[in-house]
Amino acid sequence: MSGMILLQNTAWLPEAASSIAPEVDSLFHFWTLVSAIIFVGVVGAMTFFVVRYRRRRRDEVPEPVQEKKVVELAWIVVPTILVLIVFAWGFRVYIKMYTAPPDAYEILVHGYQWYWEFEYPNGVKTTNELHVPAGQPVKLRMTSVDVIHSFYVPAFRVKQDVLPDRYSALWFEATRPGEYTVFCTEYCGTQHSGMLAKVIVHPREEFEQWLESAGIPEDMPLAELGARLYREKACFSCHSIDGSRLVGPSFKGLYGSTRTFEDGTTAVADENYLRESILQPGAKVVQGYPNVMPASYASLSEREVAALIEFIKQQQ
Ligand code: CUA
Repeated sequence: MSGMILLQNTAWLPEAASSIAPEVDSLFHFWTLVSAIIFVGVVGAMTFFVVRYRRRRRDEVPEPVQEKKVVELAWIVVPTILVLIVFAWGFRVYIKMYTAPPDAYEILVHGYQWYWEFEYPNGVKTTNELHVPAGQPVKLRMTSVDVIHSFYVPAFRVKQDVLPDRYSALWFEATRPGEYTVFCTEYCGTQHSGMLAKVIVHPREEFEQWLESAGIPEDMPLAELGARLYREKACFSCHSIDGSRLVGPSFKGLYGSTRTFEDGTTAVADENYLRESILQPGAKVVQGYPNVMPASYASLSEREVAALIEFIKQQQ
């Protein structure tokens, strides 16, 4: 297919960083160019005829239009050929885009309101950071834990809906190391617009190293681990640390404050309150903040819960 790559000026498109991107862009540019030519042709001809055959005298009767087989044939045959070219071309790119090579490296993707979780073959999990090797096909097997999301990496020119109760898949081969943005492109609730992730493309050897060292070290201090979990478990997508209002209460000044609940009762936010709020978010619901926290946080380890509490305590 590389023979069909043309018009590579992508100044007006996002950078192209996957093996399929130049092919998608070529098809896009080809069709844009053809459309532009047709547009100019049609508008030009229209303008010409309007001026050339305008009525000059009140009693003027126009010549009857003669049937011209050649002209008629041309406007049937030319568009048909164009459409067939684009169909055949598009179909080839489409098949390539949706058929992962059998040796692709497979990563599991879970969509949550409102973050992405990635699970690697060795059990390592990351949140909102997808690490992949450059120059190797990567297949994402994706499913959603709640509502429909959509996984979109403009730099790779790949996009695929992520659905609850079934797998969808996409694949790409990143061509060069760097960081690229993942957008959720299916409206999935309040924080949809904040459901962003990064694809971090490593040189191949570096990826192996990253994968080996990606586990959380046992001797990491609690506060530091808490800060890391806040990021990696995507607490930030609903809880700010600067006091600004997101879906959930801000962590700033949370510890030690008096909370008022939906039933009118109050409690001081101490360690036990924070623990309960993480593990059973529906137990006490703060006024003005309906509970939409995923139940998945109940699977945090004791140490992780302690680390998050430590982190929240620091946000004064
Ligand atoms: Cu997830 Cu929009």
